[in-house]
Amino acid sequence: MRRQRLDQILWDDFQKLPLLKKGPFFQQGDGRPYHVLIAQQFERDRLEQLCQLATRIRRIAKSKQGMEFLASLLCHKRAMLDFSQPSSRTFLSFYAACQILGLKAAEVRDPATSSEMKGESREDSVRTFSSYFDMIVMRTPLQGFAEKMAWLLSNTERPIPIINAGSGKDQHPTQALLDIYTLQRSFEKTGGIEGKTVMFVGDLARGRTVRSLSYLLTKYANVTQYFVAPAELQVHQDVLDQLDAARVTYHVCQDFEAVLPEADAIYMTRIQDEWDTEEGQSKRVDISQYYFKAEHLNRIKFNTIIMHPLPRRQEIAVAVDHDPRAMYWRQMRNGMWIRTALIATMFGRDDEIGAYYQLNLK
Ligand code: NCD
Repeated sequence: MRRQRLDQILWDDFQKLPLLKKGPFFQQGDGRPYHVLIAQQFERDRLEQLCQLATRIRRIAKSKQGMEFLASLLCHKRAMLDFSQPSSRTFLSFYAACQILGLKAAEVRDPATSSEMKGESREDSVRTFSSYFDMIVMRTPLQGFAEKMAWLLSNTERPIPIINAGSGKDQHPTQALLDIYTLQRSFEKTGGIEGKTVMFVGDLARGRTVRSLSYLLTKYANVTQYFVAPAELQVHQDVLDQLDAARVTYHVCQDFEAVLPEADAIYMTRIQDEWDTEEGQSKRVDISQYYFKAEHLNRIKFNTIIMHPLPRRQEIAVAVDHDPRAMYWRQMRNGMWIRTALIATMFGRDDEIGAYYQLNLK
């Protein structure tokens, strides 16, 4: 991916680009990510590198000496966690990732406590953060806002990287990274992600995690994707267009129980009713079929994994939690390690971690 520069393109021109053409604008000259905004900016090599680094970091972090090493890497940097939408896991795992690397983190989680209440624009608020911090991790309900800010900051004298921690209904690139990491680890002994069948279930129309992960899976050969949802919540055409372009086999269907035995990974999602455009819209959709119940454990393969980006409501019965195929708690912890790997890579510390690993843990 040849790098292009955000300060050399007008916002109106940039905005119109297809996602794949936007990717090169978010990279550094050496191919490491500068901003992390969309799943489409990741190539297969980078995914491999990040997964390997995450595993090395988690091993290094087992000892006090290792933790001291990691915490020295970015102790001269500060991060702003700007979360204007609810979050537990994404926020805390980014916070923990910053701590692991010694980055000092500050947060704004409630815009009511910022000067936006005095009438300041979101743009001005973000520009303010860039005066005090070296990186912004941003979750926002506004589609495209993180990109707009990345463009804006890149056109100031103080550009700093932005990580998209969930934007609108469209993208959640770091969730997709942790999902890939989870799939890779789970299938390590069974031939990797290649050739596997992944089944997405639930609100595929408004779930941003599915949009991002479905794209990243196109980087792995012969993965079949199933989109299983009621018609009202079915995946949108833009996602399928991406799969067509990558010549990926997929099926769009409604019958949850019929697909279960096929899947190597079952990715359950929550109904995203915060996006309802009218009162009770989601409640009118019959989703009772799209729950993973304890009895379904008998219908899936012995090595199929069950995933969920969380938070869950009734999508997965609590009784399933103890089954070794339930992967969602490990998936959540994987998020901390892959986000640590991502930040270390963005700040060019990945090679040092690799060298430390070779010397001390190989
Ligand atoms: C997801 C999100 O915010 O998009 N949560 C997360 O980051 N783990 C999924 C959801 O809220 O349902």
